[in-house]
Amino acid sequence: MEDLETVLIEFDETSGVGTITLNRPESLNALNDQLSRDIVTGLQRLEEEELRVAVIEGVGEKAFCAGADIGGFSSESSVERSERPVHTFVSEFPVPVVAKIDGYCLGGGFELALACDLRLASADSEFGFPEVNLGLLPGAGGVQFVTKLCGPATAMELAMRGEHVSAEWAAEEGLVNHVYSPDQFESEVDDFVAQLAGQAPLAIRAIKKSARMAVDAGRSEGRQYDRRLFNELLTTDDFAEGAAAFSEDREPEFEGR
Ligand code: COA
Repeated sequence: MEDLETVLIEFDETSGVGTITLNRPESLNALNDQLSRDIVTGLQRLEEEELRVAVIEGVGEKAFCAGADIGGFSSESSVERSERPVHTFVSEFPVPVVAKIDGYCLGGGFELALACDLRLASADSEFGFPEVNLGLLPGAGGVQFVTKLCGPATAMELAMRGEHVSAEWAAEEGLVNHVYSPDQFESEVDDFVAQLAGQAPLAIRAIKKSARMAVDAGRSEGRQYDRRLFNELLTTDDFAEGAAAFSEDREPEFEGR
């Protein structure tokens, strides 16, 4: 299947497994508008095939996705940039989507993994919501979703401290289904996904719908609410300072303005 500018697309006709590989290694697969669009287009193309399971992964072994593209943020175009319909598209995609996480899974990238239905991680992966270090909050409903999954204390610890947590910690909290040692990661994920792809397709679609109905009630309102908060924060001096500090590789000095 033909690749797009920022994603590689693969479809295995025998198993019905489709794979979208985020392909912006120069920025650790950071999500910009192009990548968000390409993920959606890639999934739409896979849906035209007899797709049983979709897998989203990051190119290489360093990152699944290091979050929103910090260089691409600007307060002038905040609404468009923070819309991120890709997260909604993935969670509403009719076929189960597996996030295959090897490396950094941060910010909007963590939210993308959380929008997927199942998360499989290599043991050396790192998770986190570092937005607070830029003076922001996760803008695609991450706090709300983690709150539903693990309760408010875990969600606030992740989003307020902004530190990275291990794959093991994420699995203990129920944020990751399975953690595999790096040398067995590829084969374990292949086996897991092949087993899923062999299940009755209509039944697993129905199971996804059922689970989503249970957890997604109010999710789109929640995302809109978070987007509004996010857009407000994008206009603050604190965010300007956070973004400048990141690009100048120094600690930010926030003043609460
Ligand atoms: N947006 C844009 N570029 C990013 C990025 C992001 N979210 N995350 C990493 N990059 C870029 C870096 O700027 C660097 O580019 P350069 O080589 O041109 O300088 C490249 O990816 C490699 O990252 P680097 O920081 O050198 O790797 P590292 O191993 O030292 O650190 C991270 C990796 C993920 C810990 C670090 O890059 C980081 O903290 N990234 C920001 C994560 C973040 O805050 N995401 C949420 C945004 S709201």
